[in-house]
Amino acid sequence: MAKIMTAFFSRSGENYMVGNVEKGSGNIAADIISSILGAPSYRIERKEDYPSDYNDCNKEAQRERNENERPALRSPLPDMTGVDALILVYPNWWGDLPMPVYTFLDGIDTDGLSIYPVCTHEGNGLGMTDRCIMQAYPSAKVMKGLALRGTLLQNDRDKAEAAVREYLSKSGLAG
Ligand SMILES: Cc1cc2nc3c(=O)[nH]c(=O)nc-3n(C[C@H](O)[C@H](O)[C@H](O)COP(=O)(O)O)c2cc1C
Repeated sequence: MAKIMTAFFSRSGENYMVGNVEKGSGNIAADIISSILGAPSYRIERKEDYPSDYNDCNKEAQRERNENERPALRSPLPDMTGVDALILVYPNWWGDLPMPVYTFLDGIDTDGLSIYPVCTHEGNGLGMTDRCIMQAYPSAKVMKGLALRGTLLQNDRDKAEAAVREYLSKSGLAG
């Protein structure tokens, strides 16, 4: 059985369609994954929080992306010794990953690592995110991903949990 770890980036505050949320949608997805697998989970957090206001966050995230920044993370990188499967949870931001997720992936050994992309979104699904990971980390094995709407995670946990369960089981990560 593969040694599995989850890493997630998720933002609380004001977001598209869901209003002001205490817990980001990807955080809810990561909680569901942990409750099913019991695998360790690492939170990818930008050292300096993004603004809670949706429009201000958009501006800041857009600037960071245009400049291809690698923002500093709040917590030290996790020990990934022996981990061969990484479930990576992140939101779709203009079809791409938030830049702190690149900071995280740059900092770990992705060589031969199987990455399972789990992308929260509000209409654009995985977008280009799985291909972005493949391009940036060609020696990783990017597996079939799962797209989950933030509104589903916020409003219907049972349905979201069923979708996550089905994905983990089809991917061979859960029985
Ligand atoms: C900066 C920014 C850019 C976004 N761009 C997209 C997008 O291009 N397509 C999409 O479907 N959703 C987009 N969204 C919506 C998020 O993907 C969606 O709200 C997601 O569920 C957020 O996950 P989180 O609560 O874990 O951060 C964007 C949100 C933000 C804040």
